[in-house]
Amino acid sequence: MGAMADDTFRQVFEAAPNAMIVVAAGGRIALVNAQAEKIFGYQRDELIGMPIETLIPERFRAQHAAYRDRFAGDPQLRAMGAGRELFGRRKDASEVALEIGLNAISTVDGPFVVASVIDVTERRRAKAEAQDLRHELAHLSRVVTVGELMAAIVHELAQPLAAIRTNARVAVRAIAGGDHNADELHAVLEDIVADSRRADQVIHHLRSLLTKGEVERQPLLLNSVIDNVVSVMLSEARRRRVSIDLDLAPRLPAVSGDRVQLQQVLLNLILNAFEAMVEVTERRRVVTLRTRTVDDTRVQVDVADNGPGIADDRLGSIFKPFVTTKPSGMGMGLAVSHSIVQAHEGQLWAGNAAGGGAVFHVVLPAIRDTPAP
Ligand SMILES: Nc1ncnc2c1ncn2[C@@H]1O[C@H](COP(=O)(O)OP(=O)(O)OP(=O)(O)O)[C@@H](O)[C@H]1O
Ligand SMILES: [Mg+2]
Repeated sequence: MGAMADDTFRQVFEAAPNAMIVVAAGGRIALVNAQAEKIFGYQRDELIGMPIETLIPERFRAQHAAYRDRFAGDPQLRAMGAGRELFGRRKDASEVALEIGLNAISTVDGPFVVASVIDVTERRRAKAEAQDLRHELAHLSRVVTVGELMAAIVHELAQPLAAIRTNARVAVRAIAGGDHNADELHAVLEDIVADSRRADQVIHHLRSLLTKGEVERQPLLLNSVIDNVVSVMLSEARRRRVSIDLDLAPRLPAVSGDRVQLQQVLLNLILNAFEAMVEVTERRRVVTLRTRTVDDTRVQVDVADNGPGIADDRLGSIFKPFVTTKPSGMGMGLAVSHSIVQAHEGQLWAGNAAGGGAVFHVVLPAIRDTPAP
């Protein structure tokens, strides 16, 4: 290479918008540009000669050497860690989210790997935020649905209730006036029974509307559904000084279900647990999420808290709509959750833990022979 070309190369390399790192065959850094110094926080003379693994977080180092060997065996232009999120390690031991492109060059001095590195911290944060937003929207849609449900119930129930009241007054007056004709009274009472049945149907119909029976089925890993829900709830948990403990069984078989609906179930259960622990002041507030397989055909999720628990005689009624002990509660959370789990051919029930606190159990049928991830 002539002196001119050499200088041009240096300037191009230096001015590259990405961090550029050239690594020699043994894994030591041979050349870097200014962007590389900036991303990793090292001076150039510290970087030159350093093993490339120094720039990789410790937990990924062991596997990196193997990746490096594989790349040396089949060097072609490619993105590093396709499908995985990559991280670098700065001089101050902090981590930086990276995207890395690799290529190989062979020179008179031997083969080198050229890595082009981009700091994607901002991009990943934006992506995570968008994801959070989607989850919040899923929650919101539950609230909106319940709001709409309330409006519909008010509207649909007002009429049969008014008819019942009118008929009941007629009957009361007739009896009070002493001129009650048995046939007339009979007819009035029949009307009342019919109207109350109508009111009942309205409630049932609206409740089934909530789940619509249109469960959008896809294979789901419950552990990952839990991870999603927990990530949405973390700031609320912090605000309420609740810790969330995860005890998730590895290699759970998948279930077939609607991700958003199952998220809503977990969300309702976790929110209830948070609310139940408001009065706990003398001990750590903990919600524990546990998963396990039940006889290879079902997957179980338990949501346990260390709040006051639920009186035994209320364990059955809390799943009914509008049953609440909270001043601003609607009493819909468990009713909706119950319908959703039923639509998934599963079971949802409650109990109290031996050590105190309530436990909600969700059991869903597993998809057989799903490859464990
Ligand atoms: N983890 C728990 N510990 C103790 N009691 C609970 C727990 N979860 C639910 N409950 C009881 O069950 C009732 C019904 O719960 P549900 O979620 O259906 O309604 P809610 O939380 O009162 O109102 P919302 O419609 O906002 O969810 C609660 O009011 C509470 O009394
Ligand atoms: Mg609730």
